[in-house]
Amino acid sequence: MTIIEDYLRTVPIVPLIEADDPLVAVKTAHALAAGGLNVVEVVLRTDAAIDCMAAIVADVPDIVAGAGTVLTVDQASDVISRGAQFVVSPGLVDDVARYCMDQGVPIFAGTMTAGEVQRAYALGLRTVKFFPAKLAGGVRMLKALSSVFRDMQFMPTGGVSADNLHEFLALPAVVACGGSWLTPKDAIAAEDFESITTLAREAVEIAQKIRT
Ligand code: 3PG
Repeated sequence: MTIIEDYLRTVPIVPLIEADDPLVAVKTAHALAAGGLNVVEVVLRTDAAIDCMAAIVADVPDIVAGAGTVLTVDQASDVISRGAQFVVSPGLVDDVARYCMDQGVPIFAGTMTAGEVQRAYALGLRTVKFFPAKLAGGVRMLKALSSVFRDMQFMPTGGVSADNLHEFLALPAVVACGGSWLTPKDAIAAEDFESITTLAREAVEIAQKIRT
């Protein structure tokens, strides 16, 4: 079992961090860890995103940090060389998936249709992201997909929130839920890290009710 699988078994939630300042990213990661969340996905949507992820890897040892919104093999190579412990991409690109697998780094490639899940399966992936989870049919679609792909695990992301987290986590095929609801942009802008810790705690409580 990889480190991330181990962590997600305990707390099946992956908060997103979008930051353009490594110091803020590190504080956000500390705030999430204080609330009981120890896996973070730093999305490559700012110029400083890779520096932010690397700062978390270096400065927040109790956190497993990966990179999200990874679109190309070059980006995958960059983030892995800077310490990414897992890679997330919005869609499924065979070369990116193969590269990460060759490097021994878990990859959560985005899927939305049976065809995409089947392609991921053929590539050897047994865990995929389901994105955008709410718009793509939510829990009902996941139930349909997981009834066919019986040994595939899913990480729904996109439209997951404290309101529907319990519905997704109730599905055995859901390895974890990801999302940005735990790191609201206004809280980060105001450096209101306490509210991020509170959101993390709430999510952990929801997960514990469902999974224990
Ligand atoms: C992602 O990159 O997975 C999505 O942007 C997350 O979607 P959310 O903002 O609705 O959580």
